[in-house]
Amino acid sequence: MKGLVLAGGKGTRLRPLTYTSAKQLVPVANKPVLFYALEAIVAAGITEIGIIVGDTREEIKAAVGDGSRFGAEITYIPQEAPLGLAHAVLIAEPFLGDSPFVMYLGDNLIAGGITSLVDEYRELGVNCEILLAEVPNPQQFGVAELAADGRVVRLVEKPREPRSNLALVGVYMFDARIFESVKRIKPSPRGELEITDAIQDLIDRGLSVHPHTVRGWWKDTGKLEDMLEANRIVLEKLEPAREGEASADSRIEGRVTLGKGARLSGSVVR
Ligand code: DAU
Repeated sequence: MKGLVLAGGKGTRLRPLTYTSAKQLVPVANKPVLFYALEAIVAAGITEIGIIVGDTREEIKAAVGDGSRFGAEITYIPQEAPLGLAHAVLIAEPFLGDSPFVMYLGDNLIAGGITSLVDEYRELGVNCEILLAEVPNPQQFGVAELAADGRVVRLVEKPREPRSNLALVGVYMFDARIFESVKRIKPSPRGELEITDAIQDLIDRGLSVHPHTVRGWWKDTGKLEDMLEANRIVLEKLEPAREGEASADSRIEGRVTLGKGARLSGSVVR
């Protein structure tokens, strides 16, 4: 399998936080959110990764490099404008070829990585696997409607009147059949080729789309409240560490990591 990470777009929603920087590089607990995606993909055994880049390509390239520090081999795929998630798939076809792939939105963060999901996709042998999560504000996401037997019947991008509270999470698995669909769909009212519409096209053509409901937390850090919440959750899981030096008159309280080379003198940190 290959990986496709989306780090294009403009990041307008997080301004002024992302005025000068790509939103995928905004740190969550000191690490760019994009790095969590790359680490999760590599942990799932996928090392050939394409990254879609837009206006902020130089910043992304400077941060990620050739991918060797992640144990990955990165191919950058420039997108002329943020024309939609399905447009990103379309332009990645030469890189992806006929390999199945996992697509990961560079501003999404999900608990527990994606290894078990990738394994499940491989075992099921379906054309596509989508992840769903219950949210209180489905209007802001792609929304799935499931039949009584659990099959996906309809997917709608940011519906005004959502038919369920099941949002599409920004991690998807596809085989090469998706290329036919991204070529068949038309731009949405917001002018983008929506991946939601492309997956609906798979369903309409009778291809198999398996929904997996995510029980742990999931954050779309392109949304400000999610970004703050993601920081809180990740920091909460941080194991305290003491690699630096603290003088006798210093005090360390609670979940603190004192990094290598750090020197604390006459102060209190918490
Ligand atoms: O977070 C999950 C949601 O992500 C899903 O529920 C929606 O169905 C899906 O459409 C998407 O919605 P967003 O409006 O949040 O997508 P956004 O425009 O923020 O783009 C997601 C990432 O993909 C972001 O890192 C920028 C990148 N991107 C986006 C577009 C439109 C690209 O690289 N190229 C693009 O053309």
